[in-house]
Amino acid sequence: MADWAGILGSGRDLIEATGVPEAARFLVDWPMPAAVRGVTPASLEVLRWLRASATRAPAGPVGRFACAIADAAGELCWRQSYRTGDVPRTFLERYGWCELFGRCGPIPCTALAGGVLLLGPDTHYPSHQHAAEELYVPLSGDADWQRGHGDFEARRPGDGIFHARGEPHAMRTATAPLLALYLWRGEGLDERATLAIDRVTR
Ligand SMILES: [Fe+2]
Repeated sequence: MADWAGILGSGRDLIEATGVPEAARFLVDWPMPAAVRGVTPASLEVLRWLRASATRAPAGPVGRFACAIADAAGELCWRQSYRTGDVPRTFLERYGWCELFGRCGPIPCTALAGGVLLLGPDTHYPSHQHAAEELYVPLSGDADWQRGHGDFEARRPGDGIFHARGEPHAMRTATAPLLALYLWRGEGLDERATLAIDRVTR
């Protein structure tokens, strides 16, 4: 079984290291892996890029965390928030996330939810939103990130990216996949993100 305590501890260290001011209120409610919930594993097509993505993460704490996720991937339930008709099939082949702690992940937690997002190469995750406020830490890849209607900006592994409650945001990758740690806090922890527009035809 995966070393959930080690993974959680490493994730906490990555959040602290971002230095973003909002990180403190996420860390207050950081879970203790006292109990492990049984999770039925589920795989997705996007996982074909997980090991390569973890391997190209920078050496040190970020790379170790990414490789620990790749090692534990077979024990996790990988999910998608959208279905065919909402987004192009090509997007669903290159997108997925799994919860590490929260309402359904292996570590029970009610105050926070956290996990990882994986996007394949040459993928545009269209603008979307959710009730929970969010903190992202890219682990691998050099994806561009957009907040609201602002310009896309390149963010590096180890950066902290905060999205306020209900704030639309988008990401796009080039040749490298994106692996990123996410945290949700506040309302709507058991809800899924919704697209900022009804249907994406790109
Ligand atoms: Fe988000």
